[in-house]
Amino acid sequence: MRGVRGEPVVPQLARVTVTLPPVDRAALVATRRDLHQHPELGFEEQRTSTLIAERLRQLGYAVRTAVGKTGVLAQRDGAAGRCVLLRADMDALPVEEANDVPYRSKHPGRMHACGHDGHVAIGLEVARRLHAAYLPGSLKLAFQPAEEISYGAEAMIRDGALDGPTVDAAFGIHLWNDLPTGTIGVMPGAVMASVDEFEITILGRGGHAAAPHQTTDPVLIAAHIVTGLQSLVSRRRNPFEEGVVSVTQLNAGHAFNVIPGRAELRGTVRTFGGQFFEHAPRLVEQTTQGIAAAFGATAEVRYRRLTAPLVNDERMTLLMTGVARNIVGRERVIAGVRTMGGEDMSFFLAKVPGTFAFVGSAPPGKPASPHHSPTFDIDEEALVIGAELLTRTVVEYLESGR
Ligand code: NI
Repeated sequence: MRGVRGEPVVPQLARVTVTLPPVDRAALVATRRDLHQHPELGFEEQRTSTLIAERLRQLGYAVRTAVGKTGVLAQRDGAAGRCVLLRADMDALPVEEANDVPYRSKHPGRMHACGHDGHVAIGLEVARRLHAAYLPGSLKLAFQPAEEISYGAEAMIRDGALDGPTVDAAFGIHLWNDLPTGTIGVMPGAVMASVDEFEITILGRGGHAAAPHQTTDPVLIAAHIVTGLQSLVSRRRNPFEEGVVSVTQLNAGHAFNVIPGRAELRGTVRTFGGQFFEHAPRLVEQTTQGIAAAFGATAEVRYRRLTAPLVNDERMTLLMTGVARNIVGRERVIAGVRTMGGEDMSFFLAKVPGTFAFVGSAPPGKPASPHHSPTFDIDEEALVIGAELLTRTVVEYLESGR
């Protein structure tokens, strides 16, 4: 649906008859800081999932643990109506925290450097508020492991997160340091990229650095392959399609005077779907094999698709946009926020319509540290906005379906 000026018409919100308790800011901050001090990597979220399951049981939810290894699924059945799922990821990263804050990570080499501690705190606060309210439908809360390694969402879906009752819509958020606190980025269509990983082994022939004619030099071949792969984006992709190819690892050799026998490359391809997404595996293989063969070497290419692009449903996005405008004001809801980063919420949204929004969390007055950096931190006011957004989206979705 388009308005007079071509912009999507955001529907009037249904009259909210559900009474909600106010957001408990102190509880949000306390939970987030507790989790921040005890970060756990993908599929190792034992403490985190135990804490989540205990809190949800206390609230009165039916709780299933070990859904997708360390995932937690909470459920509250309504007498009738549709079923909505909220998803919060809960894993941390292998990053050494460099922040000097009272709630600093207590575990060397592990850190909540992407804000998933905040997502869990928000999920629990939404659970608390919605459990106290009458809801015209069913609610599921999926606390998902292993988002950073892209396996958690699939694991939860495989273990039945979307079944019994069948989920009709799914929503999620990411705290987002590219946006200031008080803003929300949400738009229909692809907003996060597909993530592919490739590993290449070049098999040449080693020998003396002073007699290169007796060798097949995999280092030189690797350099040509790095350059050749860059031409995929500039010369093989339709310029109207988005795409990134990055070679991120290059390993070869162990001495200055020895030409090694093999070289290894690793990297990633990112797209928002389309032809380049379809063709990328073949293009990487073809370019690599062609260059290796031209130099008299052989190559092995291992290509893995990790996540598909995350695609927001148009109708669900309009619904969430309406809710977001009510919370932060029309001018603070920003369309056009997209990233070539990946997000395995895409697996949920490939199965059911829904939306994934970015909740601004850049601390005011100072430059925000990027996600995954050792100085990452969030403005905790964003927790309140995230909790409001998801709580009211659930209510709006279930009410509008009556
Ligand atoms: Ni993240």
